[in-house]
Amino acid sequence: MSSILIKNGLVVDTEWMRRSDILISGSKIKRVAPSIDYNTLAPDTTVVKADGLCVLPGIIDAHTHYHLVSRGTVTADSFREGSRLAAFGGVTTVVDFADDNKSSLLDSLHLRRKEMIPMAIDYALHQGVYKFRADIKKEMESIKRAGIGALKIFTTYKDVGYLVDDREELKSIFKDARDLGLMVTVHCEDDDLITSISSSWHGSYKPIDHAALRPAEAEAKAIEYVGGIARELNMPVYIVHLSSKKGLEAVRKLRMEGVKVFVETTPHYLFLTKEKLEGEDGPLYVMTPPLREREDNEALQEALINGEIQVVATDHCSFTREQKLSSDDCRTIYPGIPGTEELLPLIHTFGLTSGRLSLSQIVNLLSTGPAKLFGLYPEKGSLEVGTDADITLFDPDCSWTINKDTIHSAAGYSAYEGFSVTGKVVMTYLRGRLIMGDDIYLGLNGDGKYLRARR
Ligand code: URP
Ligand code: ZN
Ligand code: ZN
Repeated sequence: MSSILIKNGLVVDTEWMRRSDILISGSKIKRVAPSIDYNTLAPDTTVVKADGLCVLPGIIDAHTHYHLVSRGTVTADSFREGSRLAAFGGVTTVVDFADDNKSSLLDSLHLRRKEMIPMAIDYALHQGVYKFRADIKKEMESIKRAGIGALKIFTTYKDVGYLVDDREELKSIFKDARDLGLMVTVHCEDDDLITSISSSWHGSYKPIDHAALRPAEAEAKAIEYVGGIARELNMPVYIVHLSSKKGLEAVRKLRMEGVKVFVETTPHYLFLTKEKLEGEDGPLYVMTPPLREREDNEALQEALINGEIQVVATDHCSFTREQKLSSDDCRTIYPGIPGTEELLPLIHTFGLTSGRLSLSQIVNLLSTGPAKLFGLYPEKGSLEVGTDADITLFDPDCSWTINKDTIHSAAGYSAYEGFSVTGKVVMTYLRGRLIMGDDIYLGLNGDGKYLRARR
């Protein structure tokens, strides 16, 4: 069994940071100690000098859509491309989604698992539930046995058939999930409000109009709605990609009422504003929910620092420049942007510039937090002895500029083009195997493992 000694790095966990050595044996972490003597190791041990580098548990992007087939096309980053760009971003696990075929959740899951076989990094799945049916609890039991830990619910996208419209039916799905110990994650935008705004809309449909057609009020209303169901059923709820101050206020209100609300946000809602939607490249920045105002960025940043947000993920859903720019009508622009690769450098830079987010907090938001919430911990999200040797070596001092040539998405652009960031991933290990080092990708298609959630 091969051994690797990562020597003298700054090992960062959610509780502590200290200069340490880490010994990897095969796919697992074998020892973590202030100094591991070379002489005690097998002669073929590879030694990696990590002086000046941070040693982090592999980053988890807890919200991705690789190879999303949508609106008659498919996203630019399929499983091979997604794995590759993830490795460059220090990401060793993603949580992606299985669509609901509306007749069998288990068949839906099996289909997605089969599609994802080419993955070169590890992955878990959330299961979409888009329709109530009488025996859905049995279906949920079967996907739970197959390793699903969370459902994905939409409060919008009625037009594409994702919305469970009837409150009692939705409540029944929530109740079954609660009884089975499945987390319910929700995309929150109130469909009725969005429909009523668009039916009385006399404006244009430029990219910038996307923001007004899907306002923050719609997010807040949907959060109140699903939070109300969670309160009645005394169960937690997880809000994906929180985008607005109003949405955050709705979360705060629910929490004051005793509801356990977990919140995920994304770098684009933290750092980009709707001004990006103006101008020729506006379509590149269309995603749902839309980009908002500076004050929304600031409210979410403050919430991140204060511990009101548990996860930062990316909602990576990449279309090429050509796909995005093929329409400038916000109703038909393919929604979504890439982001997995930029996740760690962006959040690290924010931590440095604000001076209010420690490396340990970053590890919690980008690795340990999602691993715990989705039943992947401690195998993922930790550097404990005996767990998977998913390790990201990160140079915290390296300054660079994000642009299409420094990142690897097949989208051919980054929404953070021109951002100066501090911190760069130099090596990524997946289960003890180097999958990216010295800017060279070494991932093996098919080597990614489907991760079963455990509660
Ligand atoms: O525009 C987005 N976010 N596309 C991905 C699907 C979703 O709603 O999360
Ligand atoms: Zn969504
Ligand atoms: Zn999404």
